[in-house]
Amino acid sequence: MLLELIPGQIWHATAPLSFAGIGMHTRMTVVRLADGKLWIHSPVKPGPGLRESLDGLGAVAYVCAPNRFHHLFIEDFMAAYPEALLFMAPGLPNKRPTIRHPRILADYPEPEWRKDLDQLVFAGLPMLNEVVWLHRDSGTLILTDLCTCFKEDAAALTRFVARLLGVYRTLGMSHTIRLMVRDRSKARASRDRILDWDFQRVIVAHDHILMTNGKDAVAHAFAWLG
Ligand SMILES: [Fe+2]
Repeated sequence: MLLELIPGQIWHATAPLSFAGIGMHTRMTVVRLADGKLWIHSPVKPGPGLRESLDGLGAVAYVCAPNRFHHLFIEDFMAAYPEALLFMAPGLPNKRPTIRHPRILADYPEPEWRKDLDQLVFAGLPMLNEVVWLHRDSGTLILTDLCTCFKEDAAALTRFVARLLGVYRTLGMSHTIRLMVRDRSKARASRDRILDWDFQRVIVAHDHILMTNGKDAVAHAFAWLG
């Protein structure tokens, strides 16, 4: 089900996902650009209900696989929306060589959406290569796996693991993702660029969105980088 997050501008849908036996949700984010086209971040499986909701919002124009982990439903989604342009995080096409003709996301916004969204590739973390966006008009940061936040509504095992990884009841960079950082100074530089952006809300793929005080929370999540 598609839920409206920012009236007229941003919607999201979640789908259950099991990762190494740990139950969680993954989130798709939909931005309606100023020109009316829909920009899709980290698509979930496009069932009939979801397609009907999306089609009611506008034309699906751009689809983004935002990091090297978030690509599971790309083929299903592109089959449902073959006219859309597909964009992938750097390094992802090597993992999914059968997906044809994706454009590779850069460290600056694509011309198709630069009026609405800022964009960077979070550096120093090549296993993930996450691309990060800011929806300028609503002050919304869009992350995928860089930071996560689980709460009481998660399953018991998920809560236990989230606590171990430092992402329970707080927005954090999980210990698993921290271990993937290969160049802290590059990661710091990306963090600083994000913190220069003007935002209050933070969307993450897992599990809870922050609607207020997002910048303080992101600064806290990345503080370990020094
Ligand atoms: Fe993820």
